[in-house]
Amino acid sequence: MDAVVAVTHPLDPLSLDEIASAVAILKDRQTLAATFRFPITRLEEPTKADLAAYRLGDRLPRLAFILAIDISNGETFEGIVDLTAGTVSYIRLPLDELPYGQPPIMLCEFETVEGTVKSDPRWIAAVKKRGITDEDIPLIQIDPFSSGYFGREFEKGKRIVRAVSYWREDVRDNGYAHPIEGVVAVVDLITNRVVDLVDDEKIIPVPRKKRNYGRETFPEPRPDLTPLHIVQPQGPSFTVDGWKVEWQNWSFRVGFTPREGLVLHELGIKDEGRLRPVVFRASVTEMVVPYADPTANHYWKSAFDAGEYGLGRLANCLELGCDCLGHIHYFDVPAADDLGQPFIMKNAICMHEEDYGILWKHYEFRNGIFEVRRSRRLVISFFATVGNYDYGFYWYLYQDGTIQLEAKLTGIIQTAAVATGETYPWGGMVDDNLGGPTHQHFFNARLHMDVDGGDNTVTEHEFVPRPWGEDNPYGNVFDTRSRVLKRELDSPALANGETGRYWKVSNPNIKNSIGNAPGYKIVVMPSPVMLAQPDSTVAQRGGFAKKHIWVTAFDAREKYASGDYPNVHAGGDGLPGYVKQNREIENADVVLWHSFGHTHVCKPEDFPIMPVEYAGFTLKPNGFFASNIAMDLPPEGNSQSVDNRLLQPSADDTGNGSCCHT
Ligand code: NI
Repeated sequence: MDAVVAVTHPLDPLSLDEIASAVAILKDRQTLAATFRFPITRLEEPTKADLAAYRLGDRLPRLAFILAIDISNGETFEGIVDLTAGTVSYIRLPLDELPYGQPPIMLCEFETVEGTVKSDPRWIAAVKKRGITDEDIPLIQIDPFSSGYFGREFEKGKRIVRAVSYWREDVRDNGYAHPIEGVVAVVDLITNRVVDLVDDEKIIPVPRKKRNYGRETFPEPRPDLTPLHIVQPQGPSFTVDGWKVEWQNWSFRVGFTPREGLVLHELGIKDEGRLRPVVFRASVTEMVVPYADPTANHYWKSAFDAGEYGLGRLANCLELGCDCLGHIHYFDVPAADDLGQPFIMKNAICMHEEDYGILWKHYEFRNGIFEVRRSRRLVISFFATVGNYDYGFYWYLYQDGTIQLEAKLTGIIQTAAVATGETYPWGGMVDDNLGGPTHQHFFNARLHMDVDGGDNTVTEHEFVPRPWGEDNPYGNVFDTRSRVLKRELDSPALANGETGRYWKVSNPNIKNSIGNAPGYKIVVMPSPVMLAQPDSTVAQRGGFAKKHIWVTAFDAREKYASGDYPNVHAGGDGLPGYVKQNREIENADVVLWHSFGHTHVCKPEDFPIMPVEYAGFTLKPNGFFASNIAMDLPPEGNSQSVDNRLLQPSADDTGNGSCCHT
């Protein structure tokens, strides 16, 4: 879309003008010094209730949330700027008190860390012990990693990162093939000093074997791929109006925040001419990657990629024909840099249609009726690069009312140097002298539900065998056992494939075609939970990943699975803290949170770039509709399809071929 499009709806992201005004108003009203930076600038969104009032004719104020940090002293403030009234509310965050916490790491800080580390004499001495020369130092790659928290004095209330180093032969060399093991510089981002330098007693030489992935490394790509085009001669089937999208009875608004990246608002589906809400707001609010190696370079690694870096801030500019294939609609996203200056994140969100095989099919041999319909899905996606890893987030909408989120995990693994003749004990070997630490990836999706509008109830169901008896004389009967999640502490739960445990969000105030509450079911994929000890700091900080399902009563302040500021946080915030309030969640305005992920034991195939691994979940209508709503799909066949034996189009090229036997 045109990035300077006028704001037309209260959920539209802040425009470039609004970002500029909000920052200017905040700086002016609070007379902010030039040492202030702005790690987060976003729309402070109206609530469900606000929007209901808006639809009745109320005017809503446009609010901007700005996180402001003075990098001369670390003082941090949350500001809300009312752009409509020109007023500001501004509070200082007590980040110098337990449980601490810090704003996410800013890009401008990445740049200063390198200079700070490389000028520290202790760091220079430590890397030289490992064979690094003065000539090597300018090319050394420094990764400022979010530090974790272990209760040490230099962590408490401090804005620190732990920096690890990689040798490179030249700037295009893949540093992750050459980790400098046993050297960690803890850098205070406010004083720009190395406050602690770990120089492990064990000296492991730097692996020097090159493992690159740039196209020059593979000058002779495989020759036997023919072109594959996805063509929509009449354009796509969706319509876009600003941030609003309509497609195949679906309707939603696109949003984007610095922390979460892509957000879907007011997702609903038209059924017999009536728009029925399903999800009020859907996003991934956190992801954490805890590492399972106890040695100096790794034990503290547990990047909270949303809360400590910002998935939205690190979104890629997507390339036509490479990242997305076919007839693409891009959304450019207005954003603010660390200085609060507005800029456009070009092609940050990609939307297109995809063929998805068969949606439904039947051949009735008795009467010759043969019907098949292909499935098409709408894909709304973005990709974020967080240091070594790259994550894609793909929302899919289907013509039968299904909603899906798929996370794609790719990029470069963390690596560890291994001495010749030894085997890496904390993960897998990926090459000579190179190990990959075992780790887990956990995502958490926050789904503010709105099934048929109004209040919802979440129920848990599983299939259990019925005992032998008069009502089960052949032993074949099994039952569905259900429980209502009445209060928040009823809700934290694990999935169980053996009993097919699932959760359903229903609207108990409405009856469906068979007299029950209309609902949507969350279908979870087999997924690990966090295996770190419950009282370890990473489990305290990322407790959301200890359970697959959480349900909370909506509170506008509870936005993120890991709490507001997980960076250098002592733990206890986020979902485990939210549910302690044990609020009523039956027939209430509820938020369903789902943790899912992947346990990654590294292997040679993960290097130098790991093929995409998938994790995610599906929301499926369950008694929401009166029948399969995709029965009315047109029976046209695809006229561009070819019988390879004939090498001729199968029908005329008007797109009026018929599926299939007529
Ligand atoms: Ni991994």
